[in-house]
Amino acid sequence: MTDGPLVLGIETSCDETGVGIVRGHTLLADAVASSVEEHARFGGVVPEVASRAHLEAMVPTIERAAETAGVSLHDIDAVAVTAGPGLAGALLVGVASAKALALGLGKPIYGVNHLAAHVAVDQLEHGPLPEPCLAMLVSGGHSSLLEVADVTVGVEPMGATIDDAAGEAFDKVARLLGLPFPGGPHIDNAARSGNSVAIDFPRGLTRRSDLERHRFDFSFSGLKTAVARWVEAQQRAGVAIDVADVAASFQEAVCDVLTRKAIDAAQSRGIEDILIGGGVAANSRLRAMAVERATDAGIRVRIPRPGLCTDNGAMVAALGAELVARGRTPSLLDLPADSSMPITTVVA
Ligand code: KG4
Ligand code: ZN
Repeated sequence: MTDGPLVLGIETSCDETGVGIVRGHTLLADAVASSVEEHARFGGVVPEVASRAHLEAMVPTIERAAETAGVSLHDIDAVAVTAGPGLAGALLVGVASAKALALGLGKPIYGVNHLAAHVAVDQLEHGPLPEPCLAMLVSGGHSSLLEVADVTVGVEPMGATIDDAAGEAFDKVARLLGLPFPGGPHIDNAARSGNSVAIDFPRGLTRRSDLERHRFDFSFSGLKTAVARWVEAQQRAGVAIDVADVAASFQEAVCDVLTRKAIDAAQSRGIEDILIGGGVAANSRLRAMAVERATDAGIRVRIPRPGLCTDNGAMVAALGAELVARGRTPSLLDLPADSSMPITTVVA
């Protein structure tokens, strides 16, 4: 598709300053400046450090995106920005920048939900979203199962984590194993040479008694504790820890629960398409297992390429373009950054 609205999207909810430009479903530029290395020595994202990095990266990243896309900012039809959920100070930098840009250019502004943007980004790769679809969003801050009838109108939450997010579990377990932050990609890598059935780690909220109340919910804190206990026990016994085996067994437990529950949720609503998004959707085992199990169940799976799964500006632009295309009402210029924006609100 080469036509459609030209939209610039800004993402600053965590540690990535993302500026994307799309025309309809076509990605023209996806400029990302990450402050992840500044946080690595703290073992997690430090909000103040992230906010300052966004401030410094914003203008150069906008310029880089416009140059890559080969467009003048005056030609864009609308500005979209992540209004929440995310880190308050980090969100503020993006929202203030988007307001300045929209006001200066005389264009509408859409303050959008980060989670809906993780869903909409897949349109850049696989075309219009199937309606309805079952979206599973798994990242550092969220793990949810959502029924999405129209991503520009709202999503219906079916389940979510009751403790840690899936990405958080990857990051915490990586830390236990002495791997760098963010841990997901390192566990993914280490697991490639490990045995995924070496250790039988628990699958949270999958017992019959749990399913009554938490059929579509997740819990990863018990798994994280089980890994910690296992590592401690090995250390006490003076046995060297096989990082690859622990990584592979842990990853298998996470992917097993995620894919099982996603397929169950889709089947419970008669939905034939599952879409997976968020940083953990970059995980190679999750991608392979989801395709294998869904295919067996007669369900199609769409997962954006790894670079579009982690936070970026293109996802915000993709949702913005869909909002413009469907004639949805823009936000007011006094739109707030909302660190706990509910998943059911698409536009602030
Ligand atoms: O969506 P995202 O970029 O930021 C949030 O909105 O949280 O997700 C980041 C999370 C981190 O926890 C990171 O460890 C995880 O996604 N992640 C992965 C992989 N790549 C990133 N987890 C597992 N396997 C990966 N390959
Ligand atoms: Zn995210």
